Amino acid sequence: MARQDILQLLTTLPGEYVSGEKISQQLNVTRASVWKQIKQLQEEGFEIEAQTKKGYCLRKTPDSLNAWVIEQMLGTVSFGRSLIIEDELPSTNAKAKELAREGGIHGQVIIARTQCSGRGRMQREWQSPKGGLWMSIIIRPNLSLANASKLTLAASVAVVDALKELYRLPVGIKWPNDLIYNGHKIAGILGEVVGEWNRVQTLILGIGINANFPRENLGSSIAAATLQEILGHEVDLNKLTAAILLHLEKQVSALEADMFEELCINWTARAVGIGEEVKVIRGEEVFRGIFRGISQEGELLLETDHGEVRFSAGEVRLR
Ligand code: BTN
Repeated sequence: MARQDILQLLTTLPGEYVSGEKISQQLNVTRASVWKQIKQLQEEGFEIEAQTKKGYCLRKTPDSLNAWVIEQMLGTVSFGRSLIIEDELPSTNAKAKELAREGGIHGQVIIARTQCSGRGRMQREWQSPKGGLWMSIIIRPNLSLANASKLTLAASVAVVDALKELYRLPVGIKWPNDLIYNGHKIAGILGEVVGEWNRVQTLILGIGINANFPRENLGSSIAAATLQEILGHEVDLNKLTAAILLHLEKQVSALEADMFEELCINWTARAVGIGEEVKVIRGEEVFRGIFRGISQEGELLLETDHGEVRFSAGEVRLR
């Protein structure tokens, strides 16, 4: 008997008690083993009331990461329909790549409560303490090579929209896909290709969100902030995951329907620094100019004294 079966029974009639006898009969197990599973569910954070004559009643599901809870909240067709949560992984992107090579399906999600060697853009380290949302999604999009590279832009729009919907948080995107609140980075996105593009088009989208921990836990001096600090309370990571996956699925479908112009407009509307003087760092080189937006290819357009320069990689420094 899976604990999921008990949860399923307890949620058929929300707020009502289900007797231990009924559960044991329906699942064909002893009442003692029902009680044992209930205790484990309580330890996982499910608030289940137990009353001698009435039975069990599910009062509240946990806010901490739980695959079953996320599944109940999902409004997607394929994203997150297969979902794994691990206590600790070196990196969810690395795990997702491994799974993708073994045939992992489109939309499969891998989450870790903490990562011991999380990676960011440009080979940087990504601190991933407990309380954050560290997840990767296997994407096998129906897109041309050129359009597939725009998936990370789509992902940044999706995360901004989820944060706005859930917490009314006005988050901006710093090119290409850093999420910024009040000048501080709260989330980042790392897109990685699996294998050769022209053979199997598989992309791993890694999303990292500084959620339920104080910024000191990041242990470095980077200008970061966390949702807990900004909002003054912890957030429900299951709800956040489900909301991001729904927005992401919508954005990816729109790209598949060739709606890049719309994505470009949406990305630009959420971007920070457009029309302003910025620095773009590419390797050892530093360019100064006015940030004019992004091209149809997703490149950053910088108006410099020597004309327009386009960047497909690099780091933007705002004033
Ligand atoms: C960046 O802004 O540099 C991108 C950060 C991406 C971090 C996420 S956390 C989940 C996934 N696993 C990783 O190792 N990295 C990404």
